[in-house]
Amino acid sequence: MKNNLSSDNKDTINVHTVENSLYPKDKLDSYKLIHAQLKSLLENETHVIPNLGNASSLLNLALTEINWVGFYLVKNGELLLGPFQGKPACIHIPVGKGVCGTAVSQGKTQLVPDVHAFPGHIACDSESRSEIVIPIFVNNTIVGVLDIDSPIYNRFDEIDREGLEEVVEILSSGCNWLDY
Ligand code: SME
Repeated sequence: MKNNLSSDNKDTINVHTVENSLYPKDKLDSYKLIHAQLKSLLENETHVIPNLGNASSLLNLALTEINWVGFYLVKNGELLLGPFQGKPACIHIPVGKGVCGTAVSQGKTQLVPDVHAFPGHIACDSESRSEIVIPIFVNNTIVGVLDIDSPIYNRFDEIDREGLEEVVEILSSGCNWLDY
C-alpha cells in the first residue's frame, strides 16, 4: 500500500489509499502530507458533501488521539450536522451555543484544552476532553465549521491550529459552496 494519494494510475482514478501508520511523526510534516492528500482528493471534484466526507475520513486516519472529526454546516441560521467520523452527534447547534456555535458567533478558531471548563460546551461524546473548532469562511461568510474532539486533555496546539486552518482553506477554495 502507498502512504500517499495518487491519481497517476488512470485505471484507479479517484481510488485513493491512505494509511495512518505511515504518517510522519513530526506534526508539521504530517500536516504537509494531509494537505497534499486533501488537494488530491479534491482534484476535479467540487461537490461539498462528498468532499467533506472524504476530508473527515482523511483526518480520522491521519490524526492520532481523536474520537470525533467532522463538519457542521450553516443552514437556516443554525449549525446542522454534516459529514463526520465518530459516534452519532447532536444534529442542531444554535449559533453562539457550544464550542461550534461560539466559533461561528466569534468568527474565529476555538482551541479548548479542557471542554469541561468551556461554558456551554455541548457533550456529544462523553469521552471528549479537548476540542478544536475552525470556522470555514467563503467570501467572508461562515458556511460551516470543522470540529475535532479528543479523549485527552490539551490535545491540540498551535501546529494543529495552523494545519487545520489550512485544511479548511483548501476546502473553502476547492468546493462549490453555492450548491450543497
Ligand atoms: N462539542 C461541540 C458539539 C459537537 S460534538 O463535539 C460532535 C460543541 O460544544 O459545540
